[in-house]
Amino acid sequence: MARRSVVAMCSACGHTQPRWTGQCDRCRAWGTIEESEAEPRARGEAGASARAARLAEVPREAADRLPSGIAELDRVLGGGLVAGSVVLLGGEPGTGKSTLLLQAAAALAKGSSVLYVSAEESASQVRLRAERLDVLDADVTVSAVTRLPDILALVEEQGPDLLICDSIQTVHDPARDSSAGSVVQVRECASAIARMAKARNVATILVGHVTKEGSLAGPRTLEHLVDAVLLIEGDRSHAMRLVRAVKNRFGAVGEVGCFEMTSTGLEEVTDASRLFLDDLDATATGVCRTVLLEGPRPLAVELQALAVSSTLASPRRQTTGLDTSRVAVLTAVIQRRADVAVANRDLFASVVGGIRVDEPAADLALALAIASSVLDRPLPARTVAIGEVGLGGEVRSVPQLDRRLAEAARLGMSTAIVSSRSDGPDAGLRLLRVASVAEAVRLLDITPAGAASGHGSHLAPTAAA
Ligand code: TYD
Ligand code: MG
Repeated sequence: MARRSVVAMCSACGHTQPRWTGQCDRCRAWGTIEESEAEPRARGEAGASARAARLAEVPREAADRLPSGIAELDRVLGGGLVAGSVVLLGGEPGTGKSTLLLQAAAALAKGSSVLYVSAEESASQVRLRAERLDVLDADVTVSAVTRLPDILALVEEQGPDLLICDSIQTVHDPARDSSAGSVVQVRECASAIARMAKARNVATILVGHVTKEGSLAGPRTLEHLVDAVLLIEGDRSHAMRLVRAVKNRFGAVGEVGCFEMTSTGLEEVTDASRLFLDDLDATATGVCRTVLLEGPRPLAVELQALAVSSTLASPRRQTTGLDTSRVAVLTAVIQRRADVAVANRDLFASVVGGIRVDEPAADLALALAIASSVLDRPLPARTVAIGEVGLGGEVRSVPQLDRRLAEAARLGMSTAIVSSRSDGPDAGLRLLRVASVAEAVRLLDITPAGAASGHGSHLAPTAAA
């Protein structure tokens, strides 16, 4: 072999630099730089030309797919697993990564050979899960090896069509000094497995734990090594799980699959909106519904807010499933622009069903939910609000309003509060077009909570601006 050179990598952020220093050049952490020798060899094998060639191969390989048989998963993958590709499945512990993959392994084993490397759990734990999922008969080979050379040797020996490695953080290359789970180990083991996957044309799924902060196997060090990154999201205390493609060389980014965690594994959910909304005719204060877009898929959700007078100098702001700083901004906007006195109240805001809402299109619904709670006036039944709210209190139009409205109509909604700036078909809904959040707040039913509704004469549709 040619010259052996040393490369230094930060074990905290994965940054590589030409020489060892006491402090990382990128993340400025002290004492985290580790030198390694084997790195240049690994680099040489998967160098620039290999990476370029891989992308160029995409269209040719795109036809060669292994459908998992789980439609919601295949949809996220862009039609199935591609031979020789590497998929990273990330998620917080307990979200159901192992469950989903064992189900996929069992479904795929009907037509392909599957090797399930459970580096995290013993083979008997995998067996227990298989019993629970009722897939014990599936023709899946299970191994609980954790050393990288053992995994590579197993793949040589078995020549599987699909390799599942659960999880990459527990795989360990004894040739390296650093401990299992360190950035160096994770990155080197993942790239060795990825090289093997390309060389042997094995479709490979790596599991990666995500921390609360959202970093995947160390700070995103793996994302560039793999062809696709899927994230499984969901709250442990709720059944709903979303599988989202955040990177996909073989399919659309943003595509989402919906599942429900049941006592016998993850079940596909084709009509997710209905999971989140139950009684359409119920009205309550502090509640507003909206329609999100999860990738190409519309999803109706219910936002809730509870404002109570506070005794604290700086009132509490607590959120579940919502961005706290977004809630703070909207609170300030409705206080200032719509005269809703929320500043000295404790505010609790949440999304029903345990999913996360990050879309600006939910702003108007969130503002209305808060205002509704403060003013103690409910929104009319069967109403959704869709719009982004600016700091000036203006209500902005959102992308693909037509699809959101169509979803609301399909679910049986009758009224939609939207931006006066948006045009397009109404999908059979009564559209209330508002220019400002103040105008939207005036639409709140004048009837106090608990009394009969029907005094909504001021709810006549306003003309489009
Ligand atoms: P698991 O797949 O082990 O999560 P991960 O691999 O992402 O850490 O499963 C997580 C949770 O799902 C676990 O708390 C138990 C629950 N579960 C079910 O509710 N039903 C099932 O059929 C299975 C297998 C697990
Ligand atoms: Mg697991």
